[in-house]
Amino acid sequence: MKTLNDILESNKNWAKNIQNKDSELFKRLSKAQSPEFLWIGCSDSRVPASEVCGAGPGEFFVHRNIANLVVENDLNCLSVIQYAVEALKVKEIIVCGHYGCGGVQAALDDKPLGLIDGWLENIKTTIKEKSSELSSCEDKTSRMVELNVEKQVANIANTEIVKNAWKNNQELRVHGIVYDLASGLLKDLGVTLDQAQA
Ligand code: CO
Repeated sequence: MKTLNDILESNKNWAKNIQNKDSELFKRLSKAQSPEFLWIGCSDSRVPASEVCGAGPGEFFVHRNIANLVVENDLNCLSVIQYAVEALKVKEIIVCGHYGCGGVQAALDDKPLGLIDGWLENIKTTIKEKSSELSSCEDKTSRMVELNVEKQVANIANTEIVKNAWKNNQELRVHGIVYDLASGLLKDLGVTLDQAQA
């Protein structure tokens, strides 16, 4: 079992490796950040945002929650989007779901789990909306993972934050992708929205 000390040791090695590759990186990043990507992903430990994209510190602004949801009254997520779009001026917002998502599975199973039920209700609404498509699916969970991502892309495009950015001709795209736990690969769902499609 790893302890806090193990993690602190790993961190020293990690920082040293980065220093060796780019001796100025930490110095530059300590002054400011200018990431081009906002990543909205699942909290699942198996989908570490920048790591699966081979990105380093400073490249991804990140928000994660259970089942990568963008809910219209979630001040936490909306604040992240607002800061990313209006202050950092990210160019790409990526919603990343993952196959085998426990949150999506729990919503499909529809068994009471306590506090989290209120959160999962957002997925259950989409499940109801897509019930006819899902009923003909062999792998309902995987398809629902994809449909859930697609829904969040639409939700982001629907925020006043993103609508205003597009109205002001700010360069900004919203993408939907899915991570495959079994292969480590990302799949583009081809549901990108930009100013032209808004
Ligand atoms: Co998940």
